[in-house]
Amino acid sequence: MSPTAFGDAIWVSLPVPAFLLDPGDVISEVNPAAEQFLNTSARGLRGAPVFDKLMIDAPLDDAFRRVRADQSSLSMSNVDVSSGQSKPAQCNVQIAPVSAMPGFVMILLEPRSLADRLGRAHSVKTAAKSAIGMSEMLAHEIKNPLAGITGAAQLLSMNLSGEDQEMTDLIVNEARRILALLDQVEQFGNLRPPEKKAINLHDLLDRARKSTQLGFAAHMKIVEDYDPSLPPTYVDGDQMLQVFQNLLKNASEAAGEGGGTIRIHTFYDMSLRLRRKDGTAALPLQVEIIDDGPGLPPEIASDVFEPFVSGRENGTGLGLALVSKIISDHDGWISVDSAPERTIFRISLPVAPKESGE
Ligand SMILES: Nc1ncnc2c1ncn2[C@@H]1O[C@H](COP(=O)(O)OP(=O)(O)OP(=O)(O)O)[C@@H](O)[C@H]1O
Ligand SMILES: [Mg+2]
Repeated sequence: MSPTAFGDAIWVSLPVPAFLLDPGDVISEVNPAAEQFLNTSARGLRGAPVFDKLMIDAPLDDAFRRVRADQSSLSMSNVDVSSGQSKPAQCNVQIAPVSAMPGFVMILLEPRSLADRLGRAHSVKTAAKSAIGMSEMLAHEIKNPLAGITGAAQLLSMNLSGEDQEMTDLIVNEARRILALLDQVEQFGNLRPPEKKAINLHDLLDRARKSTQLGFAAHMKIVEDYDPSLPPTYVDGDQMLQVFQNLLKNASEAAGEGGGTIRIHTFYDMSLRLRRKDGTAALPLQVEIIDDGPGLPPEIASDVFEPFVSGRENGTGLGLALVSKIISDHDGWISVDSAPERTIFRISLPVAPKESGE
């Protein structure tokens, strides 16, 4: 079999929808699974701009740009994909460069239902959601007896001395730690809908930087690389502050005791937009938190936004799950690009509408 015949055979038999795009994002080829997925013939798809045929709830333009620039593939999980007419299907999306054809990229969709048929009966997300529901209930139930234990240990300690008191201190301190963890779990479940206002991003970033530099980021050098001309964004200030604090905290913890440098980079990038059925949403305000630490542990890199995924000994794994929930409640976008000595968490946000005032 010649290499081209071999390639054709693979293309036709691929069990997942695949699209080949030319450098101008026009569909140049689709496989039979893609025809079936969109319920349209290849003839009706070839030559059409991909954005006319495929609605993907993710910033595709940016993804294409990155794939073409870095010549490396990129994946996004649990994204809504539809033809515009049909109900969206949840898919994992892979975008890959085509090595022999400069500027061409390939989109591969893995519909979640297929993933389920292949044996993953519950998605990580559903499992995590029910885990959080359970944990919240548990958190609530554990707090009362825990308060009792702490109180009793404190009473006991009044009549003790020396070594024995060390033991009661240990009980009290460890109980406090459990309480802090439970608070975090409860907070995750109690997140209210954002109260959005027009806010200057740099004010928020400064507040986050100041509070973290008094605490867990004391050993870090934080560099501001701001575009001062950025217009106000439209967010819940308290929630977005939590987002930035969590990212700064993670970067500081990843750096270890030796410290390191965190760069906070803000800039305007008009090309980033989410394409939705009901039009496109522009997310031109970009905030990057960049650190020079070890990078995401490879074994959890693709799941860091899921709850209870942690690479740290004492981590609860709720920080980034909370961050991702807040960002999605704001119709924003978060992505991460990580390698040793260069980890970039990037948040993309909308500009405040004119009438909202500052
Ligand atoms: N900047 C970073 N550099 C390297 N690894 C990171 C970075 N940010 C996150 N991680 C990894 O991702 C994991 C998940 O982070 P997340 O904030 O969700 O949970 P956590 O920090 O472990 O616990 P929590 O935030 O609930 O205290 C971390 O444990 C860490 O392994
Ligand atoms: Mg964290």
